[in-house]
Amino acid sequence: MADQPLLREEADERGVLRRALPYLRPHRARLAVALGVGLADSAALVAVAPLVGLATDALLDGDRGRLGLAVALLAALAVAQLVLARVGELLLIRSGEDVVRTLREQAVENLATAPLRFLEAHRSGDLLRRATGEVAALAAFVRLHLRNLVSALATLGFTLAVLAGYSWQLLLVQLVVFLPPTLLVTRWFQRDAAAAFGGKASAEAGVAATFTETLTAREALQTSRGLPGWTRRFDAENRQAVRAARRALRVENRIDLVSLVEGLALVALLGVGGWLVTRNAVGVGTVVVFVVASRNLFDSFTDLSQLVGEVATARTGLARLLDLLSATQQRSPRADVDALPARGELRCEDVDFGYRTDGRELHGVTLAFPPGSRTGVVGETGSGKTTLSKLLCGLYAPDAGRVTFAGVPLAELPERQLRGRVVLVPQEVRLVTGTVAENLALVRGAPDRAAVERAVARLGLTGWLAGLGGLDAEVGQRGARLSAGERQILGVVRAVLADPAVLVLDEATADIDPATAARLEDALDELHADCTLIVIAHRPATIARLPRVVRLAGGRVVADEGSGAGRPLREEKVRLA
Ligand SMILES: Nc1ncnc2c1ncn2[C@@H]1O[C@H](COP(=O)(O)OP(=O)(O)OP(=O)(O)O)[C@@H](O)[C@H]1O
Ligand SMILES: [Mg+2]
Repeated sequence: MADQPLLREEADERGVLRRALPYLRPHRARLAVALGVGLADSAALVAVAPLVGLATDALLDGDRGRLGLAVALLAALAVAQLVLARVGELLLIRSGEDVVRTLREQAVENLATAPLRFLEAHRSGDLLRRATGEVAALAAFVRLHLRNLVSALATLGFTLAVLAGYSWQLLLVQLVVFLPPTLLVTRWFQRDAAAAFGGKASAEAGVAATFTETLTAREALQTSRGLPGWTRRFDAENRQAVRAARRALRVENRIDLVSLVEGLALVALLGVGGWLVTRNAVGVGTVVVFVVASRNLFDSFTDLSQLVGEVATARTGLARLLDLLSATQQRSPRADVDALPARGELRCEDVDFGYRTDGRELHGVTLAFPPGSRTGVVGETGSGKTTLSKLLCGLYAPDAGRVTFAGVPLAELPERQLRGRVVLVPQEVRLVTGTVAENLALVRGAPDRAAVERAVARLGLTGWLAGLGGLDAEVGQRGARLSAGERQILGVVRAVLADPAVLVLDEATADIDPATAARLEDALDELHADCTLIVIAHRPATIARLPRVVRLAGGRVVADEGSGAGRPLREEKVRLA
């Protein structure tokens, strides 16, 4: 199996902010304004303490003028802070939500185009949780906590600067009594936070994944009586999730010890402050400034310590999301393929492929499909036909050899170019809940109704479609109201609407009734003459209609008959098993 970076349970939390920078960049102007207003808000809050100190000194000195000024300034500050706080909060939430939206869009886009191997290697619940759950958690963090985080950090910084200006001795006392124990408590918390919150997130992801699988596997579980075993597994995962949540809560509770330390620090401040005042080392105003400002100090510290849990969760979520984004980063296709012709030869040369590391499903497959050629691929079940079809349209990359269109390896083609050239109609055509028309419009360029009707008419399917109930017929949940054969005919119409150079059809193995099968075959006959057709064929009737038949056995090409309708493709190496 070719190297495919897989996601690890434990997110890579190193340099999360640096890794997030590219996603912040488009919003930097708004983020800067929001941060600026946030800082001004905190500055206004911190300025209250010095003004109260000024008022105290003026009162003690009996200076009415200064007292009036201080009171007026305090009133102005209160109004300014009210406005700044509101505006700052709005701006910060808005720009934060813009960033989260960018992340969400990128995650959805990356997942939609991620290599199939990547998607198959992960449980769908895990990917779903990363793409939706973590994004929702980040959005909640932005809405509820981001502003507090910014204001707590700024208030703490400004308060320390102001207090240092008044009396470094008092600040030292306060910091010595307050900081070391608080830091110890915080460290104690942080030591286990990453593991506790990460463990909680991955345990919840496990429950979500199993739950999603329960829904998709419901039929099998009920009919095979596998339910008790499955329930036991679900219970075990649930218990694990509860244990992880309890552990996270215990770790979070450690932070409450900080309030005790605050009380001690205030006692020390009043004691030492009073003593300094009696010795005339500092004025009463200064002690008042410290008492008022220490509230800011403690509050911002408490805010920060309460936010540590939220920040840790958000950080883990962000890291898990960034891991997903970097693992699914779109390949950088070659730049010089703009001149790729609309039609061209599809070739695979010496292709080896295995789904897993320990085996190969295809061995040295070499085949060429010239423009407009019609080929059937046959072979016993498990011989690798579907696998070959997926490689031919670039859904998987070969482990050895290469698949090219018009001489360019598919891996180097931009997604848009590739999907316009080679289209696969798989064995199981997936439809979405909605009408026939809505399903048919799900192709590049979103064709309008008239184009859909023209395509249906060209394939000679107008009567058949009318029998289904017309373009506005509902297909049921995920197309459940249609048979496999009917879904596949719609798949062919959808593929034809994309006007591909190569159409690969993996004929449904389910026993399609002969009438539907014949309709499908007739429709294929109506394809444009220059459209290359490769049919993974199961029915003798289909095979008989195709001029060339390639036979696979055990993942090798064992026969290639009638290539080019009589013109043998000399360059083809037919390998005999
Ligand atoms: N997603 C997958 N992961 C691992 N192994 C797979 C996967 N899909 C197919 N295989 C294996 O690859 C081999 C070839 O399967 P493939 O689906 O290509 O056969 P096929 O010729 O299309 O069979 P059928 O006629 O039944 O459709 C089989 O042994 C199958 O078990
Ligand atoms: Mg198959």
